[in-house]
Amino acid sequence: MKTFKRYTVTAALPYANGPLHIGHIAGCYLPADIYVRYLRSKGRDVVFICGSDEHGVPITIRARKENTTPQQIVDKYHNQMKQAFEEFGIAFSIYSRTSSPVHHKTASDFFTKLYDKGIFQESVTEQYYDEKVGQFLADRYITGTCPNCGNPNAYGDQCEKCGTSLSPLDLKNPVSALSGEKPIMRATKNWFLPLDKLQPQIEAYINKHSDWKPNVFGQCKSWLSQGLQPRAMTRDLDWGVKVPLKEAANKVLYVWFDAPIGYISATKELTKDWEKYWKDEDTRLIHFIGKDNIVFHCIIFPSILMCDGDYILPDNVPANEFLNLEGEKISTSRNWAVWVHEYLADFPGKQDVMRYALCANAPETKDNDFTWKDFQARNNSELVAILGNFVHRTQVLTWKFFDGKVPHAEEYDKSDLLVMEEIARFPKKIADAIESFHFREALSELMNLARIGNKYLADNEPWKVITHNPKRVQTVLNISQQICANLSVLMRPFMPFTANKLCSLLNISPLNWDAAGKSTILTEGHKLSEAVMLFERIEDEAVQQQVDKLHQSKVVNEAVIKVTPQKTAITFEDFEKMDMRVGTILNAEKVQGADKLLKLTVNTGIDTRTVVSGIAKYYKPEEIVGKQVCLLVNLAPRKLRGIESQGMILMAENANGELIFVSPVKPDTDNGAIVK
Ligand code: 2FM
Ligand code: ZN
Repeated sequence: MKTFKRYTVTAALPYANGPLHIGHIAGCYLPADIYVRYLRSKGRDVVFICGSDEHGVPITIRARKENTTPQQIVDKYHNQMKQAFEEFGIAFSIYSRTSSPVHHKTASDFFTKLYDKGIFQESVTEQYYDEKVGQFLADRYITGTCPNCGNPNAYGDQCEKCGTSLSPLDLKNPVSALSGEKPIMRATKNWFLPLDKLQPQIEAYINKHSDWKPNVFGQCKSWLSQGLQPRAMTRDLDWGVKVPLKEAANKVLYVWFDAPIGYISATKELTKDWEKYWKDEDTRLIHFIGKDNIVFHCIIFPSILMCDGDYILPDNVPANEFLNLEGEKISTSRNWAVWVHEYLADFPGKQDVMRYALCANAPETKDNDFTWKDFQARNNSELVAILGNFVHRTQVLTWKFFDGKVPHAEEYDKSDLLVMEEIARFPKKIADAIESFHFREALSELMNLARIGNKYLADNEPWKVITHNPKRVQTVLNISQQICANLSVLMRPFMPFTANKLCSLLNISPLNWDAAGKSTILTEGHKLSEAVMLFERIEDEAVQQQVDKLHQSKVVNEAVIKVTPQKTAITFEDFEKMDMRVGTILNAEKVQGADKLLKLTVNTGIDTRTVVSGIAKYYKPEEIVGKQVCLLVNLAPRKLRGIESQGMILMAENANGELIFVSPVKPDTDNGAIVK
């Protein structure tokens, strides 16, 4: 395998549209941080790049939801996320943001270079346009009925109910989320990256990387086998990096064009020497991401870099799957998440417990579930009972028998030599697992070293042997202290806070990776600091509180999000134009060939008329005869399946898309009574 002089490690730029949750951490920031801390400990030249992704539709949607501006949203969440990362111990070399002037210039120059090289294909396409608001609609701004499951609130890019990926044209009854109006199709010109033409190059690039994680390689192959399509790199939006072309003054760069370039801009901001991290073949470029970002990092961004021609390409993209929470998908909008800033406040000083729990249960090969019970068990049965217990017993016994000084190792017997051989094997075992992105395995090896320590103490029983063979106890505790010192080095990538604590217990400065493996790290007579516990138990109440909080906040939030936003204001005169009455359904029958429609005969008080209503899925004809309803009587008649419908029955639609009658509550209201 090629050896590299330096490393550029990136972690996906999170959208600055909400706080960080543990799914983000488990998906990409923790594995990236472990990897980088390991490289640093090996003395490698590495930059670790991240920042907020401040463009794109998720930001504008959040701004609308919070009734504020996109700028205010990104300012708020950028600062909040930056602080949460820092406190959680994610040690970026820089945490930048895509609203920075350096980024706008870098992204804009990138576009210009590709434009000047004649890379882009200019095409006019028809896009949904909201005439009322005077704006083209991003996919997320169009809602309608999912063709797959009938969910009436599917988005133009995805149905969240059945998970199908959609394009806006797939939606039935599309509606603009901006105005509630039906959008029209309007022609617009955009600049496309001709991925179809680039396919052979991309294919050759991907095929060189069959060593990538199977989930990543597999997804790339599947995209390629479907045939790549040109993709627009400009969008008709007003929030983002302006397209540097006169004729595109109202357009911005596609967020997936500008965001990955954010990695480069941030490196520029970090160091004048940035070019060697991006343009030198001896640099290894690695992108840590979640699985929803695979195509952008493995196909689209490499295509952009290839078209530029001056840049190295990603050498690996170790994407994780998703982390679920207590059996359900983590969701920002449903507030079903463990927020990092709240965790830090609720469990002060326990960053490493969460880091440990998330790494031990990382969704490396499949989606995994985080539960508070598992978190508690990881802490109590593993960190406290195995790692903490071994270190504590070693310290306490050394203080008790040798006044806190590392004793001289007398003669080594066979079992000592075996343990020392084991110790020597761990740095490579753990390093190999980290270098191949198997972080769970690496962490479980770390715990195996602590297990070896516990077994060694249990087998040798220094607390008993001290009475008749104190020299033997010297050797046993010397070796046990060496295991502690090794642990302080090898745990650092995973649990940096605890590694520092252990170093202060041992009264040593942090050591580099290559110092580990030896059984002579601590010299004879070295004075230790006082023994304190590395971890403490977490009781049932503490985790129960978290589970309760989760369920309580979910309920509150769901009630809020199921309500469709209010439509634009109308005048009283507008309202008065509608003539709504109470009526009684006299007869109901199915409409031949239309499984949704019922033909109703209604006594409106004014007359008896026919109304065709789309309620057949929810009511049988015989159920509703005699029912009093409210109806709009002055709706212009229209023909449905050849039957003239002379009005519209008022219905309420619940969150499942079911229709419920809006009827007068008091029985036997007069037919013809005005609804106002
Ligand atoms: O999925 C996301 O959260 C994106 N903001 C990730 C961007 S990664 C990179 F390209 F910047
Ligand atoms: Zn659906």
